[in-house]
Amino acid sequence: MAPNHSRGTPLITLSRTQCFDNVINMRTSVNCPFSPHADVVPPIWAGREVQLRDWSDIVRPRRVSGLPERGRTILGEPGVGKSSLLTKISEDAAEHGDWVTTQLRIPSKADPLKIVAAALLKLAKKAGLSTAREKRLDDLFRRVSDISVKGVGLSLREADGPEPFTSLTELLVEIGIAAMNRGDVVALIHIDEVQNISDEHVLSQLLIALGDAMVKEVEVQAPGGFLVKRRLPISVYLTGLPDFADMSSARRGATFARRFATTTLESFGDDALEAALQPFVLSGWEVPDNAGGTGRVTMEPAARDEILELCKGEPFLFQLAGEKAWYAGSTDVITRDQVITGWTETARDEAAGHVERIIERLPQREREMLEAMIDLPPDKRSLKNIATSMGFEKSTQAGPTSQRLDTNRKIIRRGNIYTFRNRAIEAYLSSEWPDVAPERG
Ligand SMILES: Nc1ncnc2c1ncn2[C@@H]1O[C@H](COP(=O)(O)OP(=O)(O)O)[C@@H](O)[C@H]1O
Ligand SMILES: [Mg+2]
Repeated sequence: MAPNHSRGTPLITLSRTQCFDNVINMRTSVNCPFSPHADVVPPIWAGREVQLRDWSDIVRPRRVSGLPERGRTILGEPGVGKSSLLTKISEDAAEHGDWVTTQLRIPSKADPLKIVAAALLKLAKKAGLSTAREKRLDDLFRRVSDISVKGVGLSLREADGPEPFTSLTELLVEIGIAAMNRGDVVALIHIDEVQNISDEHVLSQLLIALGDAMVKEVEVQAPGGFLVKRRLPISVYLTGLPDFADMSSARRGATFARRFATTTLESFGDDALEAALQPFVLSGWEVPDNAGGTGRVTMEPAARDEILELCKGEPFLFQLAGEKAWYAGSTDVITRDQVITGWTETARDEAAGHVERIIERLPQREREMLEAMIDLPPDKRSLKNIATSMGFEKSTQAGPTSQRLDTNRKIIRRGNIYTFRNRAIEAYLSSEWPDVAPERG
């Protein structure tokens, strides 16, 4: 959205930089550090230290050392930051010289086999494999190219050759061997929107194919001439909606869990977002000024508090609130008034839509449970009371629903008294939010 400078920006005392007539517009769409766009790593990054360290301190070093380490599955509601997290991990990995697939996004009804095959071919190129002269590799490339064109249908049409899935494993193993020989390189495969792989057979075969490459052992010569076994430096990350947890646990549960460790992301606490905005508040965000130098845009502490208040810990809404505040003025201080103006005039409807989409996706029972919680005073939200409001005779009947909302979706937290982890959903169902309360606005 284009910046709207014509709007009545509150008058601010001219600061040092603004004393010069030619240095007025500090904030443009080009230098905005907030980004509510999907799949982009926003310059203002918050939290997720656990997941970033998991990659840099555990997954990567262990795979480089040939040790077993499971792939990772990162799930969460839309907008919680799964794709951004993996984009950040992939970017960091690429900076280290790792070989990374770009995010392999599976659109619904797409053929995941084609997508993965094409990505592995690219990765093989990066690994320098395509220039190899070996007949065996030539053959393998032909088979995988075939898969990238024909996809799942291939296994039905040409039954005699090796299963397409086996060819994917073989190529990934070759890439892994090349990475091992290069040293200090990991092949990182990221598949996004995995819940869209709706064919049970394809999903399970694909996970087996990728998993087989990750557990493949090769013999290498250690110093002293001993032959030792090691794993290849390959790591697979899967990201998607929480629904994937059910799909993947139903039939192939045990094998899947042995090969992939699953975590579910939840919205942020205010501390993480406050920390993300601290550099802004403390020393300002550096932007080019119009005179070939740099200036700084700062943020009033009250503006930061208002962003936190409005976004309710949702990563997407955090970026949205920040972006709209950025555009609500052009001077070098972001004020609380600008945050409120930006939100009310341009973010409010989008914020409502964001939360509505999360709620609408929930199965009926889960929605009913959230509504039952809202109808009870916060200190009366025991499982027993919630179950009674939902029309159950026994509390245990509400057990599975409450477990899914807590463990799978991280929307609520169970306990003697149930609470909301997702503050945006709570606010949407129980207050005027996303409208700004009149006494605050
Ligand atoms: N760690 C983070 N810090 C700040 N903003 C984030 C973070 N992770 C995600 N976001 C923002 O949240 C929005 C949604 O993120 P995205 O990764 O697309 O979510 P998902 O893939 O879970 O649907 C994006 O605008 C992104 O910039
Ligand atoms: Mg995403």
